[in-house]
Amino acid sequence: MQLKGKKVLITGGSRGIGKCMITELVKHGVQDIAVIGRDKDSLKALREEFESVNFLFVRGDVGDINALREISSKVEDEWGSLDVLINNAGVVSAGPLDEQSDEDIYDQIAVNLTAVVVITKYCIPILKRSDDAAILNVSSGLGLIGMPFYSVYASTKAAVRQFSDAIRRELEPDHISVTCVYPAATDTDMMTTSKAQNMDTPEHVAEKSIDGLINKKLHVIFGGEERLQESKLNFESPEKLDAKIAESYDERREASLEHKSM
Ligand SMILES: NC(=O)c1ccc[n+]([C@@H]2O[C@H](COP(=O)([O-])OP(=O)(O)OC[C@H]3O[C@@H](n4cnc5c(N)ncnc54)[C@H](OP(=O)(O)O)[C@@H]3O)[C@@H](O)[C@H]2O)c1
Repeated sequence: MQLKGKKVLITGGSRGIGKCMITELVKHGVQDIAVIGRDKDSLKALREEFESVNFLFVRGDVGDINALREISSKVEDEWGSLDVLINNAGVVSAGPLDEQSDEDIYDQIAVNLTAVVVITKYCIPILKRSDDAAILNVSSGLGLIGMPFYSVYASTKAAVRQFSDAIRRELEPDHISVTCVYPAATDTDMMTTSKAQNMDTPEHVAEKSIDGLINKKLHVIFGGEERLQESKLNFESPEKLDAKIAESYDERREASLEHKSM
């Protein structure tokens, strides 16, 4: 697809990977971008940083269904149609499941999964008015391989993968392409409280993700050959991967305890 002149709605475009995706979109000639995020100052800063962009903003929480209704209605009222929907906003709260607060469990599912499904539902009618529409969903490497102490986050991201496959097949007659990306550990605010090392840069992840969108790739998987091999092992001999992961059980538990970005 050609991005020049396209109208794009992105969730969580104010920081991290989402903001770097805006940089990529602008490089490819996008001028109309709608963003939903919770922090007013970060949204304001986008307008100052990207002077060439006509932004539509909704300050709100994607976990709130009214905010999703508001952004999709705003796009319909102002633009009449939509070319690209990017479901990027995400949160994480790691640690043993029995130590997670009920609120963190509900909020991770609401932000990482329910919001993706609901905003996509609201956007389908306006995407259908575009001649060349696409959806980009941000899953995670943990959506391919369920790691201990990330049971809730990993479940939401695996569901994003499954949703991407299902909705792609459902929208086939409408020629709306669906790309799902699976970042590995990426150096953003989300990872400040993690102990991850050798992280990808958000610029790299955004560039490859937008390239996947343009080329209508179904899946963009980060983490190199090692991630692909682990994913294969996870499917073919999960007990072998269980044994490998068990070797670093205590280390993984310890590292997860502080990791939270909600
Ligand atoms: N960083 C990684 O290692 C990594 C790895 C795999 C997958 N991912 C996925 O990549 C995506 C982007 O993550 P990131 O690393 O760029 O995170 P980030 O730097 O923490 O940025 C998250 C973005 O989402 C927005 N957001 C979060 N919760 C929201 C809510 N309830 N309502 C509206 N907006 C919300 C934030 O804006 P406000 O705070 O202003 O609302 C911000 O713009 C996420 O889906 C994440 O799960 C990240």
